[in-house]
Amino acid sequence: MSPDITHPRSIRSFVLRNSRMTAGQKKALEHHWPDYGIELQPQLPDLDRAFKRRAPRVLDIGTGMGDTTIEMARKRPDLDFLAVEVHQPGVGNLLRRAHEERLANVRIISADILEVLAQDTLINAFDTVLILFPDPWPKKRHHKRRLIKPAFLRSLLPCMRPHGRLYIATDWLNYADHILEVCEAHPALENLAGPGRYAPRPLWRPATKFETRGLDLGHEVRDFAFRVRPAA
Ligand SMILES: C[S@@+](CC[C@H](N)C(=O)[O-])C[C@H]1O[C@@H](n2cnc3c(N)ncnc32)[C@H](O)[C@@H]1O
Repeated sequence: MSPDITHPRSIRSFVLRNSRMTAGQKKALEHHWPDYGIELQPQLPDLDRAFKRRAPRVLDIGTGMGDTTIEMARKRPDLDFLAVEVHQPGVGNLLRRAHEERLANVRIISADILEVLAQDTLINAFDTVLILFPDPWPKKRHHKRRLIKPAFLRSLLPCMRPHGRLYIATDWLNYADHILEVCEAHPALENLAGPGRYAPRPLWRPATKFETRGLDLGHEVRDFAFRVRPAA
């Protein structure tokens, strides 16, 4: 089963809700974790071994129920998708769907992404990183919980390959301003839309559950596309 995520961390970007799992999600966790789950401890295995091949790799952070990851993986069998999610019903749902669709190019780690990025084996591991609708933490006193901040980028960037792409989307304009500011301030990231600009929505990006929820509330969506500058 997935690793324990009760590690001591004072400020997390998530709260583990006590959501109940459906029978199908529970069954998927029991039966399909060995095929698709990657244990974080004691040390993350080599990803080529975990995927049983070497292919361009996408890290999908905070996959929620996992339906978007599954859709992208089905459409792009030439890419390998590593999902990272702490919410157990979401992990169970992704496992269930990956099994039902017999997908060979999806794996999942059930842990805090910050714990994952701290693994040495992930240096230069990803061609593309997706952060689709990260928890917005809209209240000012909760902004410190937002995932995208300088310390997070310091952990993430070494795990991305030179020329790699970082795609982010949010439906919270105040978070969008923050994302732009933080990412543009990082010397290794180049805003592909041009300084201070949002990116057009990528054609390949499926609608996500949280995006649909935001649009129903009348929110506007902002997309971002950054490139990792090769080291000088
Ligand atoms: C607002 S939801 C978006 C889910 C999905 N990407 C979508 O657009 O429907 C954000 C997800 O990120 C997960 N999450 C937040 N912080 C995380 C972290 N530090 N590590 C792993 N997952 C995290 C949450 O559990 C939640 O499922």
